[in-house]
Amino acid sequence: MLKVEFYGGKGGVGKTTLSSARAYYYTKLGKKTLLVSTDPAHSISDVLGVQVGSKIKSITPLLDAIEIDPEEEANLYIDQIRRDMNAILSPVVLEDVNKQLRAAKVMPGTHEASLFDKMIELMDRYKDVYEVMIFDTAPTGHTLRLLTLPELLIEWFAGLIKKREKIVKLKAMLGLKEEDPILTRLKMRHAIFLKAKDIIQSENTSIHLVMNPEKMPLEETKKAMRFLSEAHQPVTEIIINKILPPNIVDPFFKNRIEKEQEVISEVKAIYKDLKITEIYMIDQDMDADSLIKIIDLL
Ligand SMILES: Nc1ncnc2c1ncn2[C@@H]1O[C@H](COP(=O)(O)OP(=O)(O)OP(=O)(O)O)[C@@H](O)[C@H]1O
Ligand SMILES: [Mg+2]
Repeated sequence: MLKVEFYGGKGGVGKTTLSSARAYYYTKLGKKTLLVSTDPAHSISDVLGVQVGSKIKSITPLLDAIEIDPEEEANLYIDQIRRDMNAILSPVVLEDVNKQLRAAKVMPGTHEASLFDKMIELMDRYKDVYEVMIFDTAPTGHTLRLLTLPELLIEWFAGLIKKREKIVKLKAMLGLKEEDPILTRLKMRHAIFLKAKDIIQSENTSIHLVMNPEKMPLEETKKAMRFLSEAHQPVTEIIINKILPPNIVDPFFKNRIEKEQEVISEVKAIYKDLKITEIYMIDQDMDADSLIKIIDLL
């Protein structure tokens, strides 16, 4: 059964570093793993030291990686809608629709919608190929919000399907019996959301929040935790990253180390039931070599 892990958190906290490290960690356990980046900044290439693109690339015998480009996916998505519309609309109306579609490419939400579809497609299509899929998300937090979409939209689509079916029935009564592309599309969307809900709410899917040991990020983490738990998408692990090593004796750092430890204690006290993982700041930027040090801490 495919295990799926999402890594979220604010900008720069270490999502890419830790999701890559976890992916390696699973390969060390002998599990065939796919690391997926949904971040347009494409930083898994930097961490892995290998150029990854929008096609699945083999990194090691057990590790593959892919970078989803939300822009590219959005274009494919809009093109698909255009093809559907072509089939059902007159050329005059179509010109207007095309204008709207061009605007939709840059509309908020289009990237997210196409990103969501691509993620579901990967999970569904390769569920028998990989044992683990790790998603490194973009800092905006939109990706984690996307996970709560199916629950919200399944009923809405079911309602739209019912309405459309009534129209199709009426048309049939008038002797206009033909395949209805809109109904087909709606049913497809509904099916995708049902599948997505199944995968996302499965016991084998988990959310991992990354934070740094500071007061402000703790507040952000609390907010994210609340949102996700209200959306029935509970977090299973909080990773506190870039903790100053306690053996620094310089007085400048002493106060900082104390403050950090206070935050860590607070996280542990508030989230007693969660797995809390502590990762120390290492003495260099992340590359394939320094990543090994992190993997050992996981
Ligand atoms: N434990 C660590 N020790 C030292 N440096 C670290 C550690 N974790 C991450 N870094 C460094 O912090 C920077 C940000 O890390 P990373 O890119 O993984 O964060 P991110 O959350 O993915 O960022 P973004 O939000 O921009 O996607 C990088 O330069 C990385 O090398
Ligand atoms: Mg990143």
